[in-house]
Amino acid sequence: MQTKRSTIDRLHPEAQLINEGAEWLKAGELVAFPTETVYGLGANALDASACAKIFEAKGRPQDNPLIVHVCNRVMANNLVESWTSEAELCVQHFWPGPLTLILPKTALVPDIVTAGLVNVAIRMPSHPVALRLIEEAGFPIAAPSANLSGKPSPTRGSHVWRDMKGKIPLILDAGACEVGLESTVLDVSGGVPTILRPGGITKEQLEEVLGEVRADTPSENQAPKAPGMKYRHYAPQGELLLVSGLRDRVVQRMGQEILRGQARLKKVGVLCTLESASLLHNWFPDLLFVLGSKDRPQEVASNIFEGLRLCDERRMDLILVEGIEEAGLGSAVMNRLEKAAGKRTQHI
Ligand code: TXA
Ligand code: MG
Repeated sequence: MQTKRSTIDRLHPEAQLINEGAEWLKAGELVAFPTETVYGLGANALDASACAKIFEAKGRPQDNPLIVHVCNRVMANNLVESWTSEAELCVQHFWPGPLTLILPKTALVPDIVTAGLVNVAIRMPSHPVALRLIEEAGFPIAAPSANLSGKPSPTRGSHVWRDMKGKIPLILDAGACEVGLESTVLDVSGGVPTILRPGGITKEQLEEVLGEVRADTPSENQAPKAPGMKYRHYAPQGELLLVSGLRDRVVQRMGQEILRGQARLKKVGVLCTLESASLLHNWFPDLLFVLGSKDRPQEVASNIFEGLRLCDERRMDLILVEGIEEAGLGSAVMNRLEKAAGKRTQHI
């Protein structure tokens, strides 16, 4: 299949391009589009065979359900059987935005979308292109992140192009996504609201509105409630080592790892904070990518997937990543990095 990649204006999306995207969706095809978090790979959420194409294009396991994107409350009401008071509060405070709500589904939602679960994941994105596309299509859009399964999520049109060219007819490219990390997935179906995946809206922000909020931390032999969280994710091709702790020690350790790696003829890439960059530069890594200031986790969040993908493009064998403080958006950043690193995490 030939893939067209069209540049679209973020704030004032060209009507003709929105129309083209909506037509492909109505025809049961897939369209990649920007959201404020990451790019989504969209299909008509009410069309089971269109949604099946998402799993095929991504190589996604069938038991991993999809988030359904809506552009207004009426559309959301048609998909959700009943709203809890916590869900209502979330809608008021955080929609449109990077918060996905887990609620009981109606019969309108095909089983393939929820992977057979009784609850549906639903969110109203704030990106003007996403909102216009859903509006023009006239139906909700099911969309996972538009990467190949297991790879870092796409935060630039170029990332989608790399993973999806030849597989889908259209990519709407509006440049970099603002948030750069996926939405927070919050179970508000009953009981204490529970974060199934940390993301763009922080636990602290949710607590301010909802009071008590839990984080789903499944033990070794217990499955996470968001099925997607059990898979190895966000992983670049190269081996990844995540190092966090006191800065001087982190820099020292990363420096040693650069030398050790290069002695074994490995290309070593470094993703680090602005504050550590000049120190690490002196160890001559093959690639040095600055994620942003340690005091501005938002900056780090918006650059992390770009950094991981760049390491693949430049064929780094070993990727050393400096961890950041696990507070606010930093928690979501560290969640993604820990998943990308698998067990190779050092706290020193
Ligand atoms: O920011 C985002 O959420 C992006 C953009 C495109 O909206 N989408 C995204 O989708 O990250 P995806 O498929 O990559 O991740 C969705 C996560 C997975 O961990 C999945 O298991 C979980 O949400 N999820 C989806 N439906 C669910 C459900 N019914 N119950 C529990 N977890 C669900
Ligand atoms: Mg994903």
